[in-house]
Order: sequence, then C-alpha cells, then structure tokens
Amino acid sequence: MFHRVLLCYDGTREGRNALRQGADVVLCMRAEVYLLAISRNLVSTAIPEGVTPELCEQEDERADALLQEGIAWLRERGAVLHPIELQPDGIDTEVLARALSAGSIRPKLAHIIPNFQNPAGYTLSLAKRHALLALAARHGFLVFEDDPYVALRFSGESLPTMLSIDPERVVYASSFSKTVCPGIRVGYLVGPPDVIAAIARIATNTYISPNMVAQSIVYEFCASGAIERSIETVRTALAKRALTLAQALRRELPEAEFVQPEGGYFMWVTLPPGTDVARLFDAAAELGVAFVKGTDFLLDGGENTLRLAYSGVTPEQIEDGVARLAAAYRSL
Ligand SMILES: Cc1ncc(COP(=O)(O)O)c(C=O)c1O
Repeated sequence: MFHRVLLCYDGTREGRNALRQGADVVLCMRAEVYLLAISRNLVSTAIPEGVTPELCEQEDERADALLQEGIAWLRERGAVLHPIELQPDGIDTEVLARALSAGSIRPKLAHIIPNFQNPAGYTLSLAKRHALLALAARHGFLVFEDDPYVALRFSGESLPTMLSIDPERVVYASSFSKTVCPGIRVGYLVGPPDVIAAIARIATNTYISPNMVAQSIVYEFCASGAIERSIETVRTALAKRALTLAQALRRELPEAEFVQPEGGYFMWVTLPPGTDVARLFDAAAELGVAFVKGTDFLLDGGENTLRLAYSGVTPEQIEDGVARLAAAYRSL
C-alpha cells in the first residue's frame, strides 16, 4: 500500500481519490442522507481546523462578521467576532434572533460545534438546530457545522446534522483525529458546490496538497472496518472517564457546577463566583494538575470557569487529578 501511494502519487490536489470514496463509505454507513450531498460536493482536507480561516477568507470578501458560540477560536485570524452566549442546549438562538432583528449584527458565517462542543461539552438541541437554520435562511448567513466529535456519543440520542436538514445553508466538517487516532489530522468537508470549490482553491493555494500518506492510512482503516471497532473502543473508554470525572467532582469538589457530557472529550466547570481561575491554575500546577482556564476561550468573563479534558487520562488518573484539583481549590 505505501509503495503504491508513495510512488504513484494517487490523488488530486483536493485529496486522495480513494479517501474521497472512503469518506463516502464512512458517511454512508453513519447517515444515508449524506450520500447525495457528498458525492459531488466533497473535499477531503488534511487540516479541518484550517478550514475555518479558509471559510472566513472566502466570506470576508463579502462579509463583515463571523458569529460564534461564545468562544474565541478565531480571534487571532482577524475575523470580526460576535460571540453569542452558549447554553447547555447550545447557542442562545433567542438572543441571536433579537440581535439579528435589531440589525446590531450582520453575520455572514456562524461557526457552530453542534455535538459535545469544545470547550463546553454541550450539544445543540434539535429545536435549536431548526431555529438556527431558519435564522440563517432569513438573514442570509452560512452555518459552518464543525463536527469532529459526532461519532463519540456514549449516551442519549443522536441528532440529525444541520447539513441533513438544510444542505444549501451548511458547510459541514468532520475529522478522523478523534476516531482513527489523535494527530492524524485527516478530515472532510461537505457543502454547496460553489462554496466547496472556493475553499478548495484557497486550500490548495495554501498547502498545495493534503498529506496523502495520512489519508491512505485513514482510508485503509475505514475500508477494513477497523474504524467501527475503534469508535466502540473510544466511546466505551470516554463513557467511563466522563462518569468517573462527574462522580469525583461531586465527591471532592461539590462547589463545582457542570453538565455531565453525553459524548466527546470535554467538561466545562463553573466554580463559585469570585473564584480566580488564574490562581487556581497556578495552585493546581504546583500539585501537578493541568487544565485550560475558561478565560482562554472567552472574549469576555469566565474568570470562575475551566475546561477539563477527560479524554486522555485513565479513570485512576482522573480520581487522583480531581482530588488534587480540590486540594488546590481549598488552598486559595
Ligand atoms: C471543534 C473542533 N474542530 C476541529 C478540531 C481539529 O481537528 P483535527 O485534529 O482533525 O485538525 C478540533 C480539535 O481538536 C475541534 O475541537
């Protein structure tokens, strides 16, 4: 396989042909509804996260703003950001509707992480998926559905993608970094043909071609069926880790407020008002515990919040880490 890939350079500048078919296969198994949309309008990308600036770049020609779910992923990319509050069932569509009607914002793109959002772990409800798409249609903006965690649900019911509800209004991205292996950085993008063509142009001008060796590994992983076993392994491990984290927090740090995630990697924790997360960060580091401060994600506020990632640690490490985090909190 490597011989063929390396010597024959099997692929186009938008990605390895076999992977493009491979992505079809994976998506078809997960949701037939993608089939029609994907066969014509797919670009495989080595770096899904690089897609967002590409979308911005393409939108910036026509646009003045980008809408986000209260987080600041793109603040260093020069986009004008309008953070909208994130609730446990997703972006606050009522606040958004009022801001749009009042004309105080005129977004061209909404960056939405619908399932097990990074950093909050929250999932956009079905009602809000419809509400957001209705707003997008009425006010003329695109939704960038950034969905790398979709396969990692360990409880509750799967919800339809916004892409499946309104394929004309949505550019959908997902990644194999959470299901094949971290750092593989192969993903795919589905959307209206004109938007995808514009992104493919910018992408190929930026990185010439994606990493086809990584794409070939992913392709073989999907075609052999190993991906299904891998997803099961990952989901089972994550379910146990999320449960252990929730139980340990309730026991060791009852002041912590959180919503127990139904999938994904992350849990958002709110501590009592007045807690200084920067001091907690230093105190926890002294005890060998790392987390990301809520303030690192938000344009404003979040001084009493933090993101805990339970994805890369064992249940035993989680128990130990939470006990140390609680000791750090009590030392403030
Ligand atoms: C919402 C979201 N999109 C994209 C990515 C990046 O995915 P990849 O590793 O495939 O570039 C991440 C983080 O890992 C993420 O949380």
